[in-house]
Amino acid sequence: MALIPGILPPSRETWEWTCLLFSWFPVITAFQWVLDWYPQGKTSTEWRFNIPGKWGWFTMESVGFITLLYIMFTLPHELGLATLPWGNWTMAGCFVIHYIYRAVLSPLFLNPSMAPMNPFIWLMAFAFQLFNAISLGGWLAGYGPTSDADWAGRYLWMEVGLVIWAWGLLGNMFHDDDLREIRRAADRKQRAEAEKTGKGLEGVEKVYMVPKNGLFGWVLYAHYFCEWVEWAGFWMVGGLACTPARTFLVNEIATMLPRALQGKRWYEKKFGKEKLGGRKAVIPGLV
Ligand SMILES: NC(=O)c1ccc[n+]([C@@H]2O[C@H](COP(=O)([O-])OP(=O)(O)OC[C@H]3O[C@@H](n4cnc5c(N)ncnc54)[C@H](OP(=O)(O)O)[C@@H]3O)[C@@H](O)[C@H]2O)c1
Repeated sequence: MALIPGILPPSRETWEWTCLLFSWFPVITAFQWVLDWYPQGKTSTEWRFNIPGKWGWFTMESVGFITLLYIMFTLPHELGLATLPWGNWTMAGCFVIHYIYRAVLSPLFLNPSMAPMNPFIWLMAFAFQLFNAISLGGWLAGYGPTSDADWAGRYLWMEVGLVIWAWGLLGNMFHDDDLREIRRAADRKQRAEAEKTGKGLEGVEKVYMVPKNGLFGWVLYAHYFCEWVEWAGFWMVGGLACTPARTFLVNEIATMLPRALQGKRWYEKKFGKEKLGGRKAVIPGLV
């Protein structure tokens, strides 16, 4: 039974409108190029209506993979398709693996702390996830390839794309963890001192240092860069015809690039340009 008839799972018309509207998402994120206001993470501000960081990330990011899975399990039935090709399930699997890491494991189990966020940022990310899940889910669950023959002749591209996707994901995880280690180390130091002096713990919220390992030696947002590599590989798996995967990548860059440039300005102000040693914001040697 459909959750919202015509919308979830999406009718072809809803899906086409969603894809079209979502392709205009960079227009909405244009505010990030002109405003320095982005109340989340490093640049979060105090406000009583703020959402706690970990729960904010868990709720806003979970909607994507849950919606995509719901569409994968309901739309084929509505369209009278007995099965979906394995290529479709492979891409859906990549998406779900990434978001189980991003939406569940990172905020709830791995990250030592996450700054509170303004509900507006939460709402934008929630909308991003929903539009993206309908756009990709619709393509994967019946409006894109519907038989193994549709994937034939693309196996080499798919294999290369999967390898790029996997390296991108591993790179993203590695650099995320390098940031976590900064706070884990601060926590260990505080605990050792507390044991010696008997004083209470200060906590590691908002403890920041310049990350140095891996690609952080060249860019301040290496985790963002790896995520772009990951979704570029994902697009390669789907091929040029997979316009939802292209829109996803373009929209990620449209929101994360200005955020990384703003983050670089933040690092310069906090630590001084000299301490950054000529690091770029997000693309090694370029930006
Ligand atoms: N932001 C986006 O638009 C966006 C979009 C798609 C995917 N993502 C992915 O989501 C992940 C998180 O993104 P984000 O924008 O939250 O990244 P971020 O600002 O770099 O923060 C990531 C985590 O590391 C902590 N942190 C950041 N810089 C640190 C430093 N210099 N020293 C110690 N801890 C530091 C943050 O703590 P605080 O929260 O306390 O600052 C947060 O817990 C990334 O892997 C990114 O690829 C982000």
